[in-house]
Amino acid sequence: MSSTTTARAAFDALIAERGLAFGGDYNPEQWPRETWREDVRLMREAGVNFVTVGVFSWATIEPRPGAREWDWLDEILALLHENGIAVDLATPVASPPPWLGIQHPDVLPVDRDGVRLIAGSRNQFSPASRTYREHALAITRDIAARYAEHPAVRMWHVGNEYGQIDHGDEAAREFRIWLERRYGGIDALNAAWNTAFWSQRYDSFDEILPPRRMPYLVNPAQSLDFRRHSSDQLLACYTELRDAIRASGAPQPITTNFMGFFAHADYHSWAAEADVVSDDQYPDPANPDAASEIALVQDLMRSLGRGRSWMLMEQSISAVSWREHNLPKSPLRARRDSLQAVARGADAICFFQWRQARSGAERFHSSMLPHAGADSDVFRGACRQGADLQKLAAVAGTEIATDVALLFDWSAWWAGEEPARPTERLSTMEQVNRWYRSLWRRGIPVDVRHPDAELDDYRVILVPHAYILSDAAAQALAGAAARGAQVVIGPFSGVADENAGILQGRSPVQLRELIGASGEEWSGMLPGALQLADGFSADDDAPRASILAERLRAEGGEVLAAHADGDLAGIPAVIRNDNAWYLGAVVSDGVLDAVLARALAAASVTGPIDGLDTLPDGLEAVRRGDVLFLLNHTQHPIDVPVTAGLVDLLTGEETGDIVGIAPGDVRALSERQHR
Ligand code: GLA
Repeated sequence: MSSTTTARAAFDALIAERGLAFGGDYNPEQWPRETWREDVRLMREAGVNFVTVGVFSWATIEPRPGAREWDWLDEILALLHENGIAVDLATPVASPPPWLGIQHPDVLPVDRDGVRLIAGSRNQFSPASRTYREHALAITRDIAARYAEHPAVRMWHVGNEYGQIDHGDEAAREFRIWLERRYGGIDALNAAWNTAFWSQRYDSFDEILPPRRMPYLVNPAQSLDFRRHSSDQLLACYTELRDAIRASGAPQPITTNFMGFFAHADYHSWAAEADVVSDDQYPDPANPDAASEIALVQDLMRSLGRGRSWMLMEQSISAVSWREHNLPKSPLRARRDSLQAVARGADAICFFQWRQARSGAERFHSSMLPHAGADSDVFRGACRQGADLQKLAAVAGTEIATDVALLFDWSAWWAGEEPARPTERLSTMEQVNRWYRSLWRRGIPVDVRHPDAELDDYRVILVPHAYILSDAAAQALAGAAARGAQVVIGPFSGVADENAGILQGRSPVQLRELIGASGEEWSGMLPGALQLADGFSADDDAPRASILAERLRAEGGEVLAAHADGDLAGIPAVIRNDNAWYLGAVVSDGVLDAVLARALAAASVTGPIDGLDTLPDGLEAVRRGDVLFLLNHTQHPIDVPVTAGLVDLLTGEETGDIVGIAPGDVRALSERQHR
């Protein structure tokens, strides 16, 4: 067995032994020892069985170069262990002590404008800095050596939310090495970047710099490669420390916390390096679409872990403190957010953080134990969550099945949003979220896959916006449609090659035969009406297109909708060619939903509730293992028809033909306990 398989098995064993993990970041070094005993007592009261310790403790452990202050850590690990609380021990490398930057300014990152960032906040390190990497490695090795066999330590947490981008000289050196590896020689780079444009030809790799402040637009290929490089660089920081922990003989699973669709790390390349995928999720209570948007992130995490359960490593129990205006979550809302993650495959529900900071930058960020103390609705809410999670122990380790893949590629996202394109109003995430919402409203989860991934198992493949598609991926889509899968492709897909060079020929060059149509010229567009073909209807008062349109002509495909106004009048906007569907414009929600509904129906893909194609507004339904989760995201009760005799794991009640879900409430209906 590989060490990853063994480590994953260790995670599964932890969950099997304790039930779902529940807890959060715990920063005892920020508190006097007197509070520790109270912390642990209240953790037990709340049902906390798992905490992440030490994320920001570097300066406590190493107050001066080479020092090692372990007493406090020895003591708290022992206390947690005595109380049956498992520890996810962090390498404290996300925030180096101030002395490191003072003694070695080369560890400090440099931003795009050439400004060197200083200590006094956090994340003040350059992932490219050799000095930083050596110091991070040294402290990690020592922590691993000391605690690899500690019975409290059940997991390792490397770094924190890796995302620092450095544009300084060390980053330049590393970028050049990366480029040389990718291109072999400078001629190949010049060709890939088309540096003849604007006289950018390089004579040697030594001349190349990261994108910094420039007089005008950056070469999009340079920018794309720098983003790829920066993600790889951060990943190398992680794998280096992970390997050091493993080399110490530590058998526990090792992870690092992801951040959903985070713009600076291509998690498709990171995921296999984590023994368990873990993620930080902060849906904004002010966002009316938060439930579907976070559901998509949760589907991404499940997909990154190849379908295995994942960990919600951080979330807030009420308000965060980093938005411009921070709305709280009611205890009911916080509970629903946690149960949503469980419903969508999480085996661990954790918060940032256990005890609210008394001072420091995050003094107003909510925590399980707030400033007000245990006599508070927030803490009582935490206790209720702990109790609920115990009732859901049977769900741990179970999986979620789907027939739908949604293709997403970080490189395509990066290249597709480089400035100087037909419109700045086309946002990849906005489009991906719109497409997903249509499926979420039907209770259909997706596997989020890279376009080059194996797609044989899917009956529906969605490609909301893949600016870059490899030839192989385009062929795979054609192959999938030929074997009967429904393939739905959104606008501005298959535009560029892997170096962000525009494919030559009528667009989308690689997909032209598949979609039975081709186009010339993409442009921004003002909102305009669509004329729907007979037999194609949409639940839409005023079907329209906006943002971006492609001058398409049908070449065998059936035109389901065409532009009705102005210069574009008569130009196809929605095409169907057997099993392939293509949108040549950003179409309104109703039209998009109609296309997706037809593709799902053609593939006979339905949601988890018989007879309900579309769920009542604000109801989320997802089946995990043999438990049907129903979440009411609204302020009013919702009735749902279900099979009679299911048992709600949260209440113990048996269902009739209809189950009522109170505002904000959640049901977890088990079929196994079906009587
Ligand atoms: C992130 C970090 C935490 C904390 C929270 C606040 O998730 O990892 O240290 O700053 O944000 O929301």
